[in-house]
Amino acid sequence: MQTFRRIGILTSGGDAPGMNAVIRAIARKANKQGVEAVGIIGGYNGLINKKLIPLTTSAVSNIITRGGTMLYSDRCLEFKTEEGMQKAIETCKSNDIDAIVAIGGDGTFRGATDLAIRGIPTIGVTGTIDNDITATEYTVGFDTAMNTVVEVLDKLRDTCESHARCNVVEVMGRNCGQIALRAGIAAGAMAVAIPEIPFDEEATINRIKAAKRKAKRGMLIVVSEGVFATDENGNKVPYGEVLKKKIQEQTGIETKFARLAHIVRGGTPTLRDRLTASQMGVKAIDLILEGKSNLVVVEEDSKIESMDIVFALTADRMYKNKLMAGDLDKFSAEDIAKMEAICEKRRQEIANLYAIINDLAL
Ligand code: F6P
Repeated sequence: MQTFRRIGILTSGGDAPGMNAVIRAIARKANKQGVEAVGIIGGYNGLINKKLIPLTTSAVSNIITRGGTMLYSDRCLEFKTEEGMQKAIETCKSNDIDAIVAIGGDGTFRGATDLAIRGIPTIGVTGTIDNDITATEYTVGFDTAMNTVVEVLDKLRDTCESHARCNVVEVMGRNCGQIALRAGIAAGAMAVAIPEIPFDEEATINRIKAAKRKAKRGMLIVVSEGVFATDENGNKVPYGEVLKKKIQEQTGIETKFARLAHIVRGGTPTLRDRLTASQMGVKAIDLILEGKSNLVVVEEDSKIESMDIVFALTADRMYKNKLMAGDLDKFSAEDIAKMEAICEKRRQEIANLYAIINDLAL
């Protein structure tokens, strides 16, 4: 069995509240096991350029409460080249880094796989506000992001109510409507538009008109940033602003638009994010010390488990209809059936939540 001297930790892609709690858990657990932890500054870029800091037990004190990532993050194009990757491997070799834990989303895990193929054991931990990694029920940062959206929606509700206005609110999530959908339900939105399910604009406008007749004053509509309309020149434009204009024109209700953008990504992580981050960080070190590699730590049936990264990325492409020729060739019929079940479970969960919006609207 390999002995581990040092483990490198990096965060890559969009930051997420709770990433610091993962870093803390990995560093503390590694140090307790007699393995040094090294922080890689600025994601894969830092690995290429040898930007390393020691992560002793005390170096990660007081970060569990902080949003963002103390290791900073970057989207690194150089790492996608063979030359960049070789530089990263050289950094590992010359600094006695025997394994890497990469915290982030699907792009981060593709990088981790590339390292693993070239002989550096890697484990991925899911950290993204979007909760858009199909193979896991939960990604670190999701709960904080949803709570931030709910907090803002509650504030907007107050002022909408005072002025008898409607507010269309666009929230992050890339191509995934999970933040919009769950926060929308929790904030009592009248309708939610997400990329996964066709939006019934006419029904929504009729619902707003009916609510007005019932003397409802404040109204909230949540739109995921992944929903688009097409303008008169055939260009793709964010749907939220388009919907805002239509509501105002067709209902006569003064309607405002708010894009929450990166506000959704910052802030103090919630208990759920700190807890899951701590569990996932500990699991990552357990896996490495068991000699395992090329796995991603996931939540499955509410338990912290691990899964082959390539399996997870393929299941993700399956769900997103992005499978390429040959993608499934290396998998058994049983594996493919498992991927299909994961995709179906997610589709069903989103459909069930979406139905709640309609069930509960005035
Ligand atoms: O993946 C996290 C996320 O915040 C998405 O919700 C959003 O679409 C994207 O990152 C924004 O990326 P950037 O910070 O590079 O603008």
